[in-house]
Amino acid sequence: MEKKTFYITTPIYYPSGNMTIGHTYTTVAADTMTRFRRMQGYDTYFLTGTDEHGQKIEKKAAEAGVTPIEYVDKIVAETKELWKLMDIEYDDFIRTTEERHIRIVQKIFRKFYEQGDIYKAEYEGMYCTPCESFWTPTQLAEKDGVKVCPDCGRPCQPMREESYFFKMSKYQDWLIDYIETHPDFIQPAKRANEMLTNFLRPGLQDLCVSRTSVKWGIPVDFDEKHTVYVWIDALSNYITALGYGTDHDELYRKYWPADVHLVGKEIVRFHTIYWPIMLHALGLPLPKQVFGHGWLLFGADRMSKSKGNVVYPEPIVARYGVDPLRYYLMREMPFGADGNYTNESFLTRMNADLANDLGNLVSRTVAMIEKYFGGAVPAATDAVDPQTDLPLQEHCARLPVLVSEQMDKLQFSQALSEIWKVIGECNKYIDVTQPWVLGKDPEKKDRLANVMRNLAECVRFTAILIGPFMPSTPDRIFAQLGIEDAALKNWDSLNAFGKIPAGTQVHKGDALFPRIDVNKELEALSGGKEEKKAEKAAQKQEKKAEKQEKKDSKHDEPEYPAEIAIDDFFKCKIQVARVLACEKVEKSSKLLKFRLGLGEDGERTVVSGIQKWYEPETLIGTQVAVITNLKTAKLAGIESQGMILSAMDKNGNLRLMSVGEGVEDGAIIG
Ligand code: MSP
Repeated sequence: MEKKTFYITTPIYYPSGNMTIGHTYTTVAADTMTRFRRMQGYDTYFLTGTDEHGQKIEKKAAEAGVTPIEYVDKIVAETKELWKLMDIEYDDFIRTTEERHIRIVQKIFRKFYEQGDIYKAEYEGMYCTPCESFWTPTQLAEKDGVKVCPDCGRPCQPMREESYFFKMSKYQDWLIDYIETHPDFIQPAKRANEMLTNFLRPGLQDLCVSRTSVKWGIPVDFDEKHTVYVWIDALSNYITALGYGTDHDELYRKYWPADVHLVGKEIVRFHTIYWPIMLHALGLPLPKQVFGHGWLLFGADRMSKSKGNVVYPEPIVARYGVDPLRYYLMREMPFGADGNYTNESFLTRMNADLANDLGNLVSRTVAMIEKYFGGAVPAATDAVDPQTDLPLQEHCARLPVLVSEQMDKLQFSQALSEIWKVIGECNKYIDVTQPWVLGKDPEKKDRLANVMRNLAECVRFTAILIGPFMPSTPDRIFAQLGIEDAALKNWDSLNAFGKIPAGTQVHKGDALFPRIDVNKELEALSGGKEEKKAEKAAQKQEKKAEKQEKKDSKHDEPEYPAEIAIDDFFKCKIQVARVLACEKVEKSSKLLKFRLGLGEDGERTVVSGIQKWYEPETLIGTQVAVITNLKTAKLAGIESQGMILSAMDKNGNLRLMSVGEGVEDGAIIG
């Protein structure tokens, strides 16, 4: 029978600098998922690579005094080294500078043009002449009230550039319908809502897909002064790597459509709007799923080189090995949510989960089999205690299903948590059955035999199931358990509990994960007390931000488009309103209920979550800014007919937006 296929991808990363622990996060997730599916018997294909064109790379190379290709060659070589270090087993590494990619991107671009999806027009933006760069309004910096280049700080001028545009709007209704009828396509589901609400329903802008000012790119082969601009080049990698559009498209026919594209949440939009539209325009099926995971934060921020808060995996791996870091990345935060990297949380997990829970279980089990049975796993006996043995056996036997249920949803952290529940149960089982007491009484030897067998078998299950997460740990456990037979190390062998053969000779080995002194290691990792202090401060700030974020979660960080048309702005009706009445909402510690006066536009009720920052009485008579054409929403059972605008001050306190004197109630803000 043909094996089921599984095709998974990571984003292709910009080789503008070395890969960080953030890039490593996505790549480890893809590798873990691939290994899991492979273990289950799928025919897997795992693609990663680098997105090598564009102005930024051009510039970096110039700064380094090398050609762009020399620059990226070096980073790519280092990236591949890092993936090897992290035990990443990809099937292919695509580089957008490869001939196999370039040829097909040109073909795709031409097809779009010929079938009328791409047209030539003029792009208008702000241009920095010395840097030869176009900037969107949001990218521009400001100096003394003048819009300046964010790179060099010199003033920019409005400029027009001839560009090709893709008619995204043509496919908008089709895509809305597709997303609405395929609830699994965008995961987590809230990202689908964001796409629909923020981008698709308000109307798609046509996308600029070529540049004349960027030289380091794929030439448009029928109009050579243009290069293909960013997303058509980058996104196509998922099919060019499979040989799509060539005479050798076996891989494409075998693996496309992809089962899942793993991406960070900041590029969900490109993968769930532009990419599906491109594929549809090519007449190709869409990937089955795009999963937008959260960010690994450092302190309160996303890691970024410019903020100087980047963590690289190499020093961590050099000190503790690969598996603890892979474990931590997959365990610490639910896939989809943001999480914070701190050395302390990493070290604490190493001690608690790896050294204590897993490490101790393995070493206790092996040591006791050595002590009580001369190192040979005993045969099963009749001395079963249904109260203690059966729940453990049943739980462990169900573990493969429990883990796959989570893995099917890419919930790595939950999958690990299921495994650790069994590990925890085993440690409790030891405490309850008290083998050291049984061991003293020769009549209890039969009972002790079953206890040892159960533990050894649970350890075998665990070793197999952690394999995709921590690829080199299972063999170290099998070596201690004395399991050599490959048929006892695979997924199929988990179909029944109790397969470990009697007589299997265990061997006590080194501790799997030695306990570490967290404080000492923190010093070593962060290089001294000052850094530790800074880390603590960052953590504190992060906790505060996290709390705040939870409070504000209904606003859920909008993913702002790089630019919007002025018409988009005018869709919001923002008005000045006077607070006529204001009181706390009963039984709520967060909400205030406002009665607002809008002059000739009448009155309305608005509920706002600012109780923590304002005494209601003090607001009566003041003027606030409110969006008045927002769909009404029920908050604590009260219909809120608008949203009052506020901003956070530097201490994390919410401050209401105010207007200058003399503005009439109901006046439009814009
Ligand atoms: N080249 C584009 C992607 C094109 S895909 C057709 C790009 N490259 S990137 O180098 O900026 O990589 C971004 C991706 O790296 C994120 O989407 C995510 O997968 C991963 N991450 C980089 N830093 C990260 C964190 N701090 N946290 C989580 N993921 C991060 O965008």
